[in-house]
Amino acid sequence: MSTAKEVILSGIRPTGRLHYGNYFGALTHFLRLQERDANCYYFVADYHALTTITDRREIYQATLEMLRTYVACGLDPHKSVIYRQSDLPCTAELALLLGMVTNIGHLERGTTYKDKLGRLQDDPKMEGNPLSYGLLGYPVLMAADILIVKADLVPVGDDQRQHLEMACDIAAKFNHRFGETLHIPKALGRDALRLPGLDGSAKMGKSDNNTLDLLDDPATVLRKIKAVPTTTDPLPLDTESNEPEMVLPKMPPGVAVLYRLLSLLAPEDAYLDFLEQYRQGGKFYGNLKKEVARYVSEFNAPIIESYNDPAHDDAFIEEFLRENAKRVAPVALETVEACREAMGIGRSLYRA
Ligand code: TYM
Repeated sequence: MSTAKEVILSGIRPTGRLHYGNYFGALTHFLRLQERDANCYYFVADYHALTTITDRREIYQATLEMLRTYVACGLDPHKSVIYRQSDLPCTAELALLLGMVTNIGHLERGTTYKDKLGRLQDDPKMEGNPLSYGLLGYPVLMAADILIVKADLVPVGDDQRQHLEMACDIAAKFNHRFGETLHIPKALGRDALRLPGLDGSAKMGKSDNNTLDLLDDPATVLRKIKAVPTTTDPLPLDTESNEPEMVLPKMPPGVAVLYRLLSLLAPEDAYLDFLEQYRQGGKFYGNLKKEVARYVSEFNAPIIESYNDPAHDDAFIEEFLRENAKRVAPVALETVEACREAMGIGRSLYRA
């Protein structure tokens, strides 16, 4: 029986503050998994952010802020290897090699690419990068992130399911063509979360202006929660909800968001109490919103405090980044060299 430690890897793009979708879809699992006797690699995906961030002054600072939020939430640079994607430039080389076994048609069916294509058709003068080669190749770079450390588990939200499947497909194709070289990770479980947006839309997302953020102060939380629409026509809540224990009656989407937040943050009694009130009807949304806002602010308070801790300044972040990049580099280089050998171009002399 193999005694190798389990390898866990995931990343988040530094394109805004961390929101509740990021936290409950991904970060909460990073925290849980770093307590295992496993090799955990968590990074900030600054290369990937270049598909949307165009201001060169923004990206470095946004990366440091994201790392500071990681730490404020409890990720521990002694338990997990926490790094910046671009500190591992051999990932870009692996993406190039993987590109040789990736069909363009496969990439064109990617949801992120198709989404951007749709938005551009609606608004041809859209600001920022147009449809770039980088955007089309986004899933290949993500596959490289995952395969380079030989990940077994990739904790991500449900919206990243297709990207993870693409990574597995690319690895399988590579192995089929060049011999067993890459380790194929496990598929995402059925219980992966997709948190709806505060506007009631299907997904909370940075580019949709519908997020609740971990660093939101109590006044901001209250303003955002009060603005959640509760008067829209009742629509069925996603009936394919992948949280079977959370069977909710049909609710307007905004109300469903409030209940979803309550289920994540409040004690079960309080949650069931509000559910009963919903079933009985009546006017209680004002109270529900106040309670949800209170739970959110209580959840955010220690994170904000730790984020503002002077000990977690840029120097502290840069120090552990330097150390952690050294911890991930050997395994990453080993994978790239193995792929080079498998494809026949041989070892890289300048690295020898
Ligand atoms: P990103 O930055 O869009 O999101 C980071 C993580 O947060 C999860 N997430 C959500 N989960 C549930 N409900 C939501 N509303 C929600 N919004 C975001 C995402 O599923 C993700 O887990 N491509 C990735 C970054 C990446 C990566 C990787 C991840 C690059 N390379 C390798 C894993 C492995 C992304 O854009 O995540």
